[in-house]
Amino acid sequence: MTRTVKDIIEMKKAGKKISVLTSYDYALAVLCDKANVDILLVGDSAGMVVLGYENTLPVTMEQMEIFVGAVSRAKQNVLVVGDLPFMSYQASITDAITNSGKLIKAGADAVKLEGGAVMADTVSSIVEIGIPVMGHIGFQPQTTALTQGYKVQGRTAVSAKQLIEDAKALEQAGVFSIVLEMVTHEVSQIISETISVPTIGIGSGINCDGQVLVVHDILGLYEKLKPKFVKQYLSLSDEIVQAVSNYKKDVEASKFPAQENWFSMEKDEYDKLKKEI
Ligand code: KIV
Repeated sequence: MTRTVKDIIEMKKAGKKISVLTSYDYALAVLCDKANVDILLVGDSAGMVVLGYENTLPVTMEQMEIFVGAVSRAKQNVLVVGDLPFMSYQASITDAITNSGKLIKAGADAVKLEGGAVMADTVSSIVEIGIPVMGHIGFQPQTTALTQGYKVQGRTAVSAKQLIEDAKALEQAGVFSIVLEMVTHEVSQIISETISVPTIGIGSGINCDGQVLVVHDILGLYEKLKPKFVKQYLSLSDEIVQAVSNYKKDVEASKFPAQENWFSMEKDEYDKLKKEI
């Protein structure tokens, strides 16, 4: 049965860890759903790993709607969360509601946006109309990257206090879970123990209620960035390069296609054709 946001909140209450992966296309989403991951996050990281941008800032609503649609068509059990891209929710609450609605219409079960206390009103407005929201604090690729670069969050008591306040403000605003990105493990633990909704860590240690990674990173499909917090389970890049060069060799040596790969005419039709030409 398809998971709901209520099931995800219940997992925290039951002490069950929540597994989350990013997902952007139908074929991989089918496999992740089959592996029974709890949440597929259609992240704006698609901009980097699928579209080849330097960062997530150029990603548009139209692109996100296409990715969300593809992933949601693969869904059997998993909860699908669609990421609101840069400038689709920051300028006004109307933008935030309209664009959240677009991701839900494209097939998402919930939306995610970046920002702490400053986004509390926006979050509660989206939640009030019935769309579940996942928060995202700590390192925020849409903004922290611009102001501070890639930097671990919550190393000082001052920034740790701000993160805890942000998490409480989002909980108060009605989020069903919060991504903690590159937050020190001490602060992640305090937040996870303080708030009632699940924390989903990425580079934030073992004490979060769940974990999220970019699917291309765990499969070894994206070689441009290798953050310390990633665990790579496969080296698909190497296997793909090997497979493609084997294909090239087979084509060049006329070893592909073989008889089982081509189609034939009936013999009498072929003979007729030969006579006619
Ligand atoms: O866009 C994304 O993939 C994300 C996750 C890495 C949390 O926001």
